[in-house]
Amino acid sequence: MNIKKILYKALEDSFLHSNYSFDDLTLTFSNRPEEADFQCNSAFAIAKKVHANPEVVANAIIANLNQDVADVWFSKPGFINFKIKDEVLSKLLNEALSSDRLCLEELEEKETVVMDYGGANVAKELHVGHLRSPVIGESLARLHKILGNKVITDTHLGDWGLQMGLTIAGLEDDGYIDGYFDSSKKNKEITLDTLNEVYPKASKRKNDDEEFRKKAESYTKFIQDKKEPYWSIYLNIREISVNRIKANYEKLGCYFDLWYGESNAAPYVEGVVKTFIDKGLTREHDGAIVVDVAKEGENIPIEKKNPDDPQLYKNPMPPVYLKKRNGADVYDTTDIATIEQRNQDYNPDKMVYVVDKRQAAHFERCFRAVKMAGISPASQKLEFLGFGTVNGKDGKAFKTRSGDTIKLEDIINLISNGARAKLAENGIVDNDELALQIGVAAMKFGDLSNAPSKDYIFDIDKFTSFEGKTGPYIQYTGARIHSLLRKAGLEDKFDSLSSLNLIDIADENQRKIAINFIRLQESYFTSYKESSLSSLCTALFDFASSFSKFYNDTRILTEKDEGKKSSYLALCLLILKALKQATGVLAFEIPEKM
Ligand code: ARG
Repeated sequence: MNIKKILYKALEDSFLHSNYSFDDLTLTFSNRPEEADFQCNSAFAIAKKVHANPEVVANAIIANLNQDVADVWFSKPGFINFKIKDEVLSKLLNEALSSDRLCLEELEEKETVVMDYGGANVAKELHVGHLRSPVIGESLARLHKILGNKVITDTHLGDWGLQMGLTIAGLEDDGYIDGYFDSSKKNKEITLDTLNEVYPKASKRKNDDEEFRKKAESYTKFIQDKKEPYWSIYLNIREISVNRIKANYEKLGCYFDLWYGESNAAPYVEGVVKTFIDKGLTREHDGAIVVDVAKEGENIPIEKKNPDDPQLYKNPMPPVYLKKRNGADVYDTTDIATIEQRNQDYNPDKMVYVVDKRQAAHFERCFRAVKMAGISPASQKLEFLGFGTVNGKDGKAFKTRSGDTIKLEDIINLISNGARAKLAENGIVDNDELALQIGVAAMKFGDLSNAPSKDYIFDIDKFTSFEGKTGPYIQYTGARIHSLLRKAGLEDKFDSLSSLNLIDIADENQRKIAINFIRLQESYFTSYKESSLSSLCTALFDFASSFSKFYNDTRILTEKDEGKKSSYLALCLLILKALKQATGVLAFEIPEKM
């Protein structure tokens, strides 16, 4: 039962009666939740059009309105208020409780969507800049899935760029890979620590050692040409790195269908470059093959004819690079070839990229190029979802105390430690798994409560609090219900409880829960439309809060009236299920005890 749809239908019927246009029909949750559940403000717009008094219009609408599910009344100067009848709310909740997906509806038009997030770089350490993509991406993918879309998730590893050549050049200089070139010599074992040491050093060195940089560039090309022994060394590095990346993503509750990287697009590069050339879209620039994608009004900073001309670089839209001068693939190349690959494999309606918003221009250029070349059909949606920066409490980019970039593993430790301290206050010690569960929830909820495009402040103390709008508060609410059901001896009898139609809404607190449940179910769709989990987080928090109020005001386990008690417990079970459904999308767990 979708109560909003029922009310909407009743309004439509009444509008037909009076010949009012459906364009003016609005129905929202009430601004005065103490009095009403929903409100309709249509009378104002209609009154203006037909030159009547809103009060007259509102009363005309009410007069023809089916009032089976709600009590309806007018309030000045032109509002129509609805209060859903208690027995209707009870029916709705009982229906939800007996449904696997709590009667959560699905999208009317389902799509096949490829989601590109994670984006870790092989050989480079994961750091704070890699935190938001997996967090937002995983939840968004789960949101699409629960609403019925077919979703393919791909982590799109950075594994084809200069960092690979740099790492090999660095390993060579430090004597790790001599055996690959001279069979009389031995290789030294390469571990993750080796990579963490070698890559940053090499990356620094390339800036003032021209020869070293050139060597790294040619090694990058060798890898892309699968030349031995560079290719074997590359595969070795890739494996070491990817194993670690996987482990870290799993800690964050992120799992991917595809562990592809830029390298997997390599077989498609030749074909796409040919498409661009055949369509006459390319030109040569300084030995490289480029495609101009600028539109009128945007400057193409091709040559610095007059370096003093301020116009030259204003609003720049550089060309897309398909091939570097040495024939190597660059970031543009692999992203464009990846679109071709995904189209051949899945022909999706949409591709969504959850990437740092500073990469917006790169994606804009690639998207324009694939549309021009017909690599992406005109009807296919390419969506760049750029996210903002994670800041410290000082409002500046989150760093370690010594001012270094903070590693993802350190962040995971920080939040787990924060959660461990809070658990200790509650007398729970030595539970690392629980601390991680809570820490991850704290961090994710803190992040997802914000619109992705906004920067946000990473405040461990605030995020890990068991009170207020936090992940742990949601978990705590769930754990309380677990404990309640356990004490009632019902924890393993969920299924039997679900089918008994026990819920009987009887007071204001319970009504609040019911209305907040309706809001929660609606927030999945709002979040979907907004490509942001923030509405879901807010609705989930309000829903959990309405349980707390009920829990504080009601004697549940000691209730003498068996009917009432069963109703309370069934309601609690529904709340637990709804919390789990939502946290399943936000991708964190509800512990049984905390
Ligand atoms: N590896 C990239 C980075 O660290 C992110 C990849 C994003 N996805 C993509 N298709 N380019 O910046």
